[in-house]
Amino acid sequence: MAIEKTLSIIKPDGVRRNIVGKILGRFEENNLNIVATKMIHMTISEAEGFYAVHSDRPFFGELTRFMSSGPVLVSILEGENSVSQHREIMGSTNPAEAKEGTIRREYAESLGENTVHGSDSVENAAVEIAYFFSKTEIVNSAS
Ligand code: CMP
Repeated sequence: MAIEKTLSIIKPDGVRRNIVGKILGRFEENNLNIVATKMIHMTISEAEGFYAVHSDRPFFGELTRFMSSGPVLVSILEGENSVSQHREIMGSTNPAEAKEGTIRREYAESLGENTVHGSDSVENAAVEIAYFFSKTEIVNSAS
């Protein structure tokens, strides 16, 4: 199996509700290693840049206002098939459809405020990681 990196964001609702540690614990319990992490507070233009792929969607304004409404924890997770593994642990984007035991099922309050973000492919993970992290900040990678 391939060792991959993925980008994980604990969104403002997760930071605000003091569940950062619980969520990071889920990743660690599932053999996703935290190879870099930091707390940031995005400006609206940084959120717009990150979610540029969604710029034509009707929820773009709501999404970018929310993502810049408070601090988030951005992390790089590394492990076997980490992109799909992380998505499995997060659960479906809409918490109402997320499986029992997933982070979004347990913690997310709505489709917009769904507690966590994860890259959807290895290619997008590389782009998303480069958006937030310089190479020198990735200090715990096995590769
Ligand atoms: P995320 O994985 O961060 O990627 C894009 C985000 O857009 C998604 O999680 C949701 O939080 C948000 N999103 C998707 N669809 C909608 C919607 N219909 N209304 C509001 N937000 C949405």
